[in-house]
Amino acid sequence: MSLTALSHCGPRCSLAVRHLVQQRSLWAGTFRSAQLTALPKAPGFVRPPRQLSSSTVAQCAAAAPSVLSRADVITDHPFNNITDTIFQKIGVNLHQQPGHPIGIIKGAIHDYFDSHHPTTFTKFDDLAPIVAATANFDEVLVPADHVSRSPNDTYYVAPETVLRCHTSAHQAEILRQGERAFLVTGDVYRRDSIDATHYPVFHQMEGVRVFGPQDWQASGMEGAQYAEVELKRTLEGLAQHLFGEVEMRWIDAYFPFTEPSFELEIFFKGQWLEVLGCGVMQQQILDKNLGPGQKAWAFGLGLERLAMVLFDIPDIRLFWTSDQRFLGQFKAGNMTTKFKSYSKYPPCYKDVAFWISDAFTENNLCEVVRDIAGDLAEEVKLIDDFTHPKTGRTSHCYRIAYRSMERSLTDDEVNALQEEVRSTVATKLNVELR
Ligand code: PHE
Repeated sequence: MSLTALSHCGPRCSLAVRHLVQQRSLWAGTFRSAQLTALPKAPGFVRPPRQLSSSTVAQCAAAAPSVLSRADVITDHPFNNITDTIFQKIGVNLHQQPGHPIGIIKGAIHDYFDSHHPTTFTKFDDLAPIVAATANFDEVLVPADHVSRSPNDTYYVAPETVLRCHTSAHQAEILRQGERAFLVTGDVYRRDSIDATHYPVFHQMEGVRVFGPQDWQASGMEGAQYAEVELKRTLEGLAQHLFGEVEMRWIDAYFPFTEPSFELEIFFKGQWLEVLGCGVMQQQILDKNLGPGQKAWAFGLGLERLAMVLFDIPDIRLFWTSDQRFLGQFKAGNMTTKFKSYSKYPPCYKDVAFWISDAFTENNLCEVVRDIAGDLAEEVKLIDDFTHPKTGRTSHCYRIAYRSMERSLTDDEVNALQEEVRSTVATKLNVELR
């Protein structure tokens, strides 16, 4: 699912991606609320980013070395749906590594804003990803019954606390601190399916800029119109900075927190590619958190998507590898790298078929697969969907592709993974294996 176009996209259309690299839109799809409990594994410690405070309102504040225990994140609260695989990603902060493709894209976007608007934008890149559900949803006007709030789509620590599913979760709190122009980069978390372009953790950058009457009066425009014109000019410049001279188009979109809302698409390597979502910020958010009489624009973009397109990175799992054959190809500040695949090991396909229950969701299945196979799971694909004419029961058959990007897998290890997937699916997902 993607966080984007709530009103007009299907469930797989997303803000971050729609054509080339799919990412997900929480703003579309059906509400299904099956719960998956965390699978117990070894405890671990990570370095969480700092909580927002006035001291973090600084240009590119560095991450603070602190620890977050597993018990803070994975609890036995019935609402908790965070697995060890997800816990282990918290605090890794790929966007803070200047030589990592995610950090390189972040740096290029910062460079653009620094050169066009020197000292205007305050940059945040170490805000903690564990946020209040109110910040993630209510403060950006996500309706109470919106699908994105479902535990099928969002990771909950407890009913009031989530792993942010978008960097928009920080809009209101930063406005309350009086910031009028800022960029927020961070890891965001969404429960989702498994394939080359979907991963439950990815990185977004949020941009917000506020204007006052003195800005638009001089232009002769109304405030909202001024913000829209400014927004489009700024983002067209950004797209050009990243992609060079490209054809662009604006598509009407829907987000709860902006009106009007748009997506920017560029024509790149023969197809239209969605680059970001944006719009004029809902007046209510500004009035409540900054004060009346202002206008603002906001945008959000997915860094993996941009990196995959710009650097020719074929699989989203690669961002998480420590293999120097991947990392060694990139250099801080270098936007012209084209990734050369260093190997292609054979995939191993295994099918699992079962009678589903009402509570079954594909996201829950994928969570089980990820927690058992980790990044060896390349794709989980529904290959058969059948309803028995007499009993009315529905059977699904999923094909799981196992493949390592670093080595050949043995039959024995794949069989062992598949066996564990089968037994866990049967016990945790309340389905009947066939
Ligand atoms: N938060 C939106 C998403 O994740 C992106 C967005 C940000 C859209 C700001 C408009 C304004 O899909």
